[in-house]
Amino acid sequence: MRDPIPGGGLPILQRFTDTGEFLKGWRAFFESRRERYRSNVFRTSVVFPAISILDVRGFDVLLDATKVRKRFGFGPAIPRRDLLSGVVPTVFHNDAAHDVRKAFVLEWMGMRGPELHRALDRALEEAMGRWATAGKPFDWGADADRLLADFLFDWLLGARPELSDVRTWFDAGFSPIPWDVPLPSAPRPARKARDRLLATIRGAPGLPEAAALGRTRAGMEEPEVAAQLLFMLVANAWGGLQGAWRSLMAELSIHPEVADAIAGDPGGGMARGAVLETLRLRGPVPFAYGEARDDLRIESSSGSFPVRKGEMLMGVFWLAARDPDFFPDPERFDPSRTADPRFLRALLWSNGTGETPTRTDNKVCAGRDIVPSVLERCVQRIVPAWQWTLGSTPRWSDTDLPLGNRPVEPLIVTDFSPRSRTAP
Ligand code: HEM
Repeated sequence: MRDPIPGGGLPILQRFTDTGEFLKGWRAFFESRRERYRSNVFRTSVVFPAISILDVRGFDVLLDATKVRKRFGFGPAIPRRDLLSGVVPTVFHNDAAHDVRKAFVLEWMGMRGPELHRALDRALEEAMGRWATAGKPFDWGADADRLLADFLFDWLLGARPELSDVRTWFDAGFSPIPWDVPLPSAPRPARKARDRLLATIRGAPGLPEAAALGRTRAGMEEPEVAAQLLFMLVANAWGGLQGAWRSLMAELSIHPEVADAIAGDPGGGMARGAVLETLRLRGPVPFAYGEARDDLRIESSSGSFPVRKGEMLMGVFWLAARDPDFFPDPERFDPSRTADPRFLRALLWSNGTGETPTRTDNKVCAGRDIVPSVLERCVQRIVPAWQWTLGSTPRWSDTDLPLGNRPVEPLIVTDFSPRSRTAP
């Protein structure tokens, strides 16, 4: 029978050509194929064979944990197992092993809920103090890395990490090759950073209670709880937020009218609109992966496609976020579009729609609700009080695939000063 999903080819040859073309530019790679096949669903072979999905409707099946299962790694981005002390992070587990660990994560985040604003405000006040007294141009993104690391560790553990360890661990955290095979051990500085971060976590005031919860909810011993928290804090949370923070501040710099509207009405919906619109247009995670648990169908705006058990699905968040069926004039940064009731249904950055709550038995980001509220609070504290000038206009790349979707160049702030009040 003819394969109803377009785009197959000779396996070895296709892997070679697709991977090469993808590396030259991710966006042109997917868009040229969408054009060629007139379809939002087609076969590709970037490192491994997969069925690529480019539209919001097609994504639904990929977000359904009863239909797809996770493999170890974010597609070809495979964490180095030795930097995790051999522990498999929650996000790569399936079924009961996943659900008990996610229950621990969600309950722990809930228990630490009362600490969230205190930890964020403290880190924010310190950061704004640094920016106001910098006296010379500074790299805003790099400095916000400290803000975010301080906030996250303080919130969930009552401790603060060495930023250099966070960076070293994160930068070395993924295998240099896209396969899950045994590797020589990670470079010594990264192993040292891992050890120091684990020591910070295990010595943190919040750890005994977290360890007790990990034991009762998931049967995890303290070393696993510490390693799970390390991955969640640095890879999931810090890794995601650092890109989102840069993109958000970049969008507000490019759109001073939005910053002015927020300054004039800090409690209003504009701050939230700017945050959600940034998460749509600049979602920090590029792809979602899932292996079909059984034969299933992708119901896409381009039609209904049968998938066989064991086949790999690869959703492209960055193109689904530009699906014109849900986002008219999709390239436009328009915070007001977030008021459309259809917006949340189609907002997929968290590996779920904006309407699917995170649960133990799904794969929606545990930070789904925290991320917008943290970013919104940052905006509400920074924008009404301060104005800034960037050394150059931020831009995002359609070709390079950095680990996060963030402006290509650093956000160099050349002037950071109290916001001047405009006459009413
Ligand atoms: C902008 C920031 C963030 C982005 C873009 C993001 C994105 C994602 C995505 C796409 C996934 C699913 C990955 C997959 O299944 O392959 C995920 C999972 C997860 N995220 Fe986030 N995340 C962010 C921030 C956070 C924060 C702040 C936390 C916690 C404090 C967090 C904790 C988690 C956890 C624990 C999972 C695993 C969920 C599960 O296993 O079901 N994330 N995140």
